[in-house]
Amino acid sequence: VLDTIAAGDQVLLTLEDGKTFLLVMEPGRHHSTHRGSIDHDAVIGQLWGAALTLSTGKEVYLLRPRWIDRMMKVHRRTNIMYPKDVAYLLAALDVGPGKTVIEIGCGSGAMTQALTRAVSPGGRVFSYDKREEFLELNARNCAAARIDCSLVTYAVREAGETLQEGADAVFCDVPEPWAELGVIEAALAGSGRFAAGIPTFNQAERLASALVGHGFAMVETLEILVRGILARPGRTRPEHRMIGHTQLLTTAVKVMRSPRGAE
Ligand SMILES: C[S@@+](CC[C@H](N)C(=O)[O-])C[C@H]1O[C@@H](n2cnc3c(N)ncnc32)[C@H](O)[C@@H]1O
Repeated sequence: VLDTIAAGDQVLLTLEDGKTFLLVMEPGRHHSTHRGSIDHDAVIGQLWGAALTLSTGKEVYLLRPRWIDRMMKVHRRTNIMYPKDVAYLLAALDVGPGKTVIEIGCGSGAMTQALTRAVSPGGRVFSYDKREEFLELNARNCAAARIDCSLVTYAVREAGETLQEGADAVFCDVPEPWAELGVIEAALAGSGRFAAGIPTFNQAERLASALVGHGFAMVETLEILVRGILARPGRTRPEHRMIGHTQLLTTAVKVMRSPRGAE
């Protein structure tokens, strides 16, 4: 299908060096980069995927923004979850169409975007944060990313306050997740999945102990490292630099044990 770029479309301008710019096309506007500039009018009407030249003669590709591009370009006032961690968590939490998912500490909304896309159609995301300004930022970021915000219910919440009941999964991105386990347990359906992202080993230890203490099963902690590879004929090797640390991921499941001797 030959589909062209229209005014109002979001375009990921991608330079040959990999730098990207996520822009809404507006007639009469102009965009400058370190490799040269381009008029939005030169982009409007082009085919998606077209390669044009900047004012300097360097190439620029007109790409559809991917989910990963939109996540990494959210306007940030908090740390965000990284795609490598988000992708694993969506699978581990079994987030899919029609599911009800709770997110505690939704911040700038990188994870909110992922959860909302994953539960669509038919699902719900309940996103809590203790700071109202972050809920507003989160909603703006989701709208800018063309997420179906009607699936998201935002609420201000202090530590320990109750959550929506009947959740299939809860994701917790707050500094003291162990303090939330009582209300999380009450919110989760049986067999519902829990996950948290935490930056330090002592937090991971404390969380794992607290999960066991609350009766959760299959308590696991892991980290995901991504190493880029420079693949070139005869001299393929790992890249020198990598992101060495984002978060440790802890997962668990709610089980409902019968009282001893009752079975
Ligand atoms: C690291 S940010 C979350 C980032 C988010 N997951 C993302 O991907 O963009 C942590 C957030 O948790 C909120 N927070 C901290 N403790 C909380 C609590 N007990 N209940 C609700 N929100 C909390 C903070 O205000 C902050 O916005």
